[in-house]
Amino acid sequence: MLRVVFLISGQGSNLRAFLDSCAEGMIPATVVAVGADSEAPGLDHARHFDIPTFVEPLERGGDRDEWGTRLGDRIDTFTPDLVILSGFLRLVPPSFVRRFAPMLLNTHPAYLPDFPGVHAVRDAFEAGVTETGASVIVVDEGVDTGPILAQRHVPVVDGDTESTLHNRIKIVERELLAHVVRDIANRETAIEES
Ligand code: GAR
Repeated sequence: MLRVVFLISGQGSNLRAFLDSCAEGMIPATVVAVGADSEAPGLDHARHFDIPTFVEPLERGGDRDEWGTRLGDRIDTFTPDLVILSGFLRLVPPSFVRRFAPMLLNTHPAYLPDFPGVHAVRDAFEAGVTETGASVIVVDEGVDTGPILAQRHVPVVDGDTESTLHNRIKIVERELLAHVVRDIANRETAIEES
């Protein structure tokens, strides 16, 4: 079983879907811990499954590298094979990336390289595109610039709001993430050092 540490910042609906799929035997992985940068509501999903949680905040004006080291040390106590950022809205420092990449994935609610950053759905919506998408990437030292492991388009439909669009994108993100992790666990996807 692939040992996974998941990092979130908010509702953690992607985390919940991942945990449900693991519990149903659909993904050959076990989430050994869930971390957050604040007391995120999504941590309750981990508690529901009796999975350990931890919070490692980056204080206002705090040193990002030192925070990254503390966060990495917390993660390492769970000896993960893979670290997944899904809805983790803090930029991790390069030292953190070097420590865990390439076994460090991120889900992103856009068809990268279009619309990187934390407001991807809003940016796509405001740009008036007719389709956007979802991506799963390996994290590198840039902002959503790492190698793309899976992605799919999602149409923008009449009557969409940012919220309805994001909810449809998340459904695709979850499918892509499950597919990628399944392939890694089954060694059908080899993630290369960059
Ligand atoms: C997801 O769409 C995730 O890809 C996105 O935040 C959402 C979290 O939803 N992440 C980013 O935008 C990072 N740039 P959730 O908390 O309900 O899983």
